[in-house]
Amino acid sequence: MRRPSLQAGRLAALAPTWQVEILAETTSTNAVCAERARDGAPEGLVITTEHQYAGRGRLDRVWEMPPRAALASSILLRPSLPAERWPWLPLMAGVAVARTVSGRLKWPNDVLLGPELKKVCGILVERIETPTGPAAVLGIGINTSLTPEELPIPNATSLQIERGEGAEEVDRTGVLVTLLGEIADAYGLLTHDPDELAADYLALSATVGMRVRAELPAGGVLAGTARGIDPYGRLLITRADGETEAVGAGDIVHLRPLT
Ligand code: BTN
Repeated sequence: MRRPSLQAGRLAALAPTWQVEILAETTSTNAVCAERARDGAPEGLVITTEHQYAGRGRLDRVWEMPPRAALASSILLRPSLPAERWPWLPLMAGVAVARTVSGRLKWPNDVLLGPELKKVCGILVERIETPTGPAAVLGIGINTSLTPEELPIPNATSLQIERGEGAEEVDRTGVLVTLLGEIADAYGLLTHDPDELAADYLALSATVGMRVRAELPAGGVLAGTARGIDPYGRLLITRADGETEAVGAGDIVHLRPLT
């Protein structure tokens, strides 16, 4: 597999909306983007890399990938949003990626692809305090050309795997260009029409309507039926006893569809 480098010229053409910086290699694009934010970088900075070797995942996990086999990017936003709408930033990023790759969403924002709904993208959104106010770093890792042997977990996939053998090579630069367009659209909705963004999220959700098990960060487990998303972006789960709880963080396991 050739795995070509990102094409700087095509990404430079996205200025002034997006200022894309390509690093040959880095620990974590989120870490670099957060540092730039603290140094005063404006909204629209995008840090991407050919090789991220110490990436950060949700719930303190690591996120590593072979050189040029994935698209690791971090996007700096400086949202003027009321505090209660910030938890929608990770869901907004999920909508943008799901649209980019024609995927579905496992709450909060794992992007799933293919008949078996395997994970093709992980998203880590971090809030950064900066001298000019709070900023959001949207960290997005899309498996573009990982082979089955290179996948980090069995229930993962890549765009290339889903295209099938002999298919055209995934154009990483093209994926990033499309992604940034989708981010701009979804961010516009979050700012100006949050109800429509919520409707878009629900339409892409593979979780709502399923029986699920939520593995909570503190160690507990909650099983029930995923009924919807509340105004704070939390997953609403109705237990067998009929009580509904809102989950704000955790790992969701899909059990079987609601009958
Ligand atoms: C997850 O655990 O599912 C989220 C993974 C997020 C990985 C991306 S890759 C680009 C950005 N930089 C990081 O260090 N992490 C995010």
